[in-house]
Amino acid sequence: MEDNKIEAVSMPRIGDVAPAFRAVTTQGEIDFPKDYKDKWTILFSHPADFTPVCTSEFMTFATMEKQFNDANCRLIGLSVDGLYSHIAWLRTIKDKIEYKGMKDVEVNFPLIEDITMEVAKKYGMIQPGESATKAVRAVFYIDPKGIIRAMIYYPLSLGRNFDELYRVLIGLQVADQYSVALPADWRPGDDVIVPTAGSCGVAKSRMDNQDGIECRDWFFCTKKLPMSDVNKVIKQ
Ligand code: BEZ
Repeated sequence: MEDNKIEAVSMPRIGDVAPAFRAVTTQGEIDFPKDYKDKWTILFSHPADFTPVCTSEFMTFATMEKQFNDANCRLIGLSVDGLYSHIAWLRTIKDKIEYKGMKDVEVNFPLIEDITMEVAKKYGMIQPGESATKAVRAVFYIDPKGIIRAMIYYPLSLGRNFDELYRVLIGLQVADQYSVALPADWRPGDDVIVPTAGSCGVAKSRMDNQDGIECRDWFFCTKKLPMSDVNKVIKQ
């Protein structure tokens, strides 16, 4: 951690409209969220190009990009480095870096140059208690209506868990699609939580284990959501 004065910064919150921006990226200019209508977006930041943890993360994101795209989600990266640094770093990753069986990895999603920190500041990615000059490892889940649905922040020293990043995306989509909630450690194929019954009659029929709903008590009922239903969300 760096020893900096903490200035007040605006932090987007879950449920807020995602701040709009135009930016230069490794894939050309983007106008967000206009260019990303009707899609989920994961907008994420990394502290710096040519650093090891970030390199391992980019290789993992790029390797999993198709999986995210199949779930109707686009990836956008950001750091406060410039475009030529981004291009040189991504070329180095492709040409030279082999890590955990990943090699010849091409990053095809856009990586924003944000030297002015304009976008990073809008999204609260600069957290001066951690670093005033680098973005933390932030992950924003933005839905097709442009609403921020989840945020995860990691410090500079800890690489992200990509199973969890993917699980959160699928979990948000499944919860929306089937009007359910998801219990601790839910994974696709696990039982899901149905909303609390609105009347005693419904609660009673649930407690009697009707309609395939299993209740531990009136407020805690689950049902099966088979992979075939989850797959309808994943492969849209
Ligand atoms: C890294 O990605 O390795 C890293 C970046 C900034 C600070 C510490 C580690």
